[in-house]
Amino acid sequence: NDLTAEWEMKWDPTENTRGTFNFPGGDAIVAFAEANGMQVKGHALIWHQALPGWVASLSAPELRIAFEDHIRGVAGHYRGQVRAWDVVNEAIDDSGRGLRDTVFLRGLGADYVAEAFRLARQADPDAELIYNDYSAEGLGDKSDAVYDLVKGLKQRGVPIDGVGMQMHISATGYPSLANIAANMRRLGALGLKVNISEMDVRISDVSGDLTTRLQVQRQVYHDIVTVCVAEPACESVTFWGFTDAHTWVDAFFGPDDPLLFDERYYAKPAFSGVEDAYLGR
Ligand code: XIL
Repeated sequence: NDLTAEWEMKWDPTENTRGTFNFPGGDAIVAFAEANGMQVKGHALIWHQALPGWVASLSAPELRIAFEDHIRGVAGHYRGQVRAWDVVNEAIDDSGRGLRDTVFLRGLGADYVAEAFRLARQADPDAELIYNDYSAEGLGDKSDAVYDLVKGLKQRGVPIDGVGMQMHISATGYPSLANIAANMRRLGALGLKVNISEMDVRISDVSGDLTTRLQVQRQVYHDIVTVCVAEPACESVTFWGFTDAHTWVDAFFGPDDPLLFDERYYAKPAFSGVEDAYLGR
């Protein structure tokens, strides 16, 4: 009942040429969602990847203008059509020590994060505004840095409503359920919603035959979705694709079967694991 674009609403596809906006892919996704009684979560307004080359060549004053125009252009186009936006994606450095070194940090300064949220709120006042990141699902340096960032934004009155936990994980190693729950709770205590925003569960490193690996995967999906169902702050789970025939994981991590449906579009054990989680089983 909830749809997110993997690519089509990012900067490169929506504003490949400066000042010329195109929304064919994103509009098709919104139309599909409307036709099928689904809501849409927009992804992602400000990210250091999926940027057309021209962004990196701008002077700082020009970057500021382009940054504002992009957020206004995209969030304005989808105003009233998306329930939420991932406003800033992956802004924390992997070390967990502060903001990632990006074209936005260099050109605009650390306040670009707050500024992006303010611009998004102006452009689409009814959308829930989300900060989204990876490897910050449990407790640790990076999730502490995300927590500090969003706490600071809240304290300063910046319009932020939620935090997305990407949850690209391997079944052989992922944050403990207790730590995921604790992280959701501390973010919830700030008055923020949380969501699992890009879940996939890799199994190529799991030992045993395929049947065994699919059962391990089922359990991981079940257990993590159960955490979201149990935590009042957690409002949604998004899987980063649905069929193993089309997954970014194959290109990024190597061949795998990380999603709920197999390459022939049949539901895998992981699907019933998620179903059981929502049914409280
Ligand atoms: C990935 C998409 O899945 C790919 O199709 C695209 O080519 C690159 O981006 N974190 C994110 C997502 O926030 O936007 C990324 O999606 C995966 C990692």
